[in-house]
Amino acid sequence: MALVQYLNRAWLEPGAVKRLSRELETLGVRRPLLCTDPGIVASGLLDKIRAHWPAEAPFAVFDATPANPTAEAVRAARDLYREQNCDGLIGLGGGSPIDLAKGVGLMLAQKEPLEELEVNRKGTAKIGPLPPLVAIPTTAGTGSEVSIGAIIITDDGRKATFASRHLVPQVALCDPELTLGLPARLTAATGMDAVAHCIETYLSPVDNPVADAIALDGLRRAIRDGALKRAVTQGSDLEARTQMMTAALEGALAFAKGLGAVHAMSHSAGRLKGRNLHHGTLNAVLLPCVMRFNASAVPEKMRALAEAMGLPKGEDVATAIEKLNREIGMPASLGEMGVKRDLVEDLVAVALKDSAGATNPVRATAQDYRRLYEEAIQGSE
Ligand SMILES: [Fe+2]
Repeated sequence: MALVQYLNRAWLEPGAVKRLSRELETLGVRRPLLCTDPGIVASGLLDKIRAHWPAEAPFAVFDATPANPTAEAVRAARDLYREQNCDGLIGLGGGSPIDLAKGVGLMLAQKEPLEELEVNRKGTAKIGPLPPLVAIPTTAGTGSEVSIGAIIITDDGRKATFASRHLVPQVALCDPELTLGLPARLTAATGMDAVAHCIETYLSPVDNPVADAIALDGLRRAIRDGALKRAVTQGSDLEARTQMMTAALEGALAFAKGLGAVHAMSHSAGRLKGRNLHHGTLNAVLLPCVMRFNASAVPEKMRALAEAMGLPKGEDVATAIEKLNREIGMPASLGEMGVKRDLVEDLVAVALKDSAGATNPVRATAQDYRRLYEEAIQGSE
């Protein structure tokens, strides 16, 4: 049986951010707290938003979101929200500030400690309505602006996943102009996260033909039509940026049907202490190995992926991703990213527990994950 459920209001166009004060008014928000990070402040994007701030509202900003949002940072933002008497939230940035804003909403509305609300502790059922949230993405990748999920590092250092329809921002302002200044490396990494969402969710065995169609459309835009390559090599190409923002939105709308082993493995590697390995870069490197692992179980779906990617006859998905990775400057292996063999057992243990693995077309065992990590550490050359 298919469950098709789409929930929020997303504006997708250059200049979408001009709608901010009108959208806040519709939501009844008079005193928003904007959550962002130091990089967004330094890039001048925060000033761009200020021009569309509701008249008479104080400019309340929490700008200390870490690269991966922590419970400690969420508490600091929540305290500021209370101090400033705020009545709604704005998340401005990549996935992290948007996830942080989702965490603030959870802490404000829920009585339970954050840990009790995790997916792994069956927290989804406990989560109720949260304060209104407007998400303004500044990258084209995570899709947190339309997704039910949030990832926050708990006080004991775990990357905890939260998921609920109440975590979907009420409004997403997807303005590709905000991504024009994104450096090539980040454009490539975040873009490959969107590509991984489209591919993995399409391969998920969960029945949702609408999500499948959306995922394939995202791939066509990003790869067949060349938007990802153009956005990386010509950062100022607004059309390419618009297509990539569309692909990111589509990837996240589609992944309501689950992801797969690429995400199980990248979540595990992404929480390695002191390394700060980028989620999208990890996905880019892991995709070819996992696609080879999946290929014989889902041959028809692999053909559909190859067609959506516009591949010449005979070229397989894994080889095409390796080629694309080279062209957009992604590393060729986990080894190149500093991940060594001695970490494999730890990586496997955490990947096995990750909920994304449950919807991989082939259920990966510990032995499979071990082999996949070893292949990814070595790379294709
Ligand atoms: Fe992702």
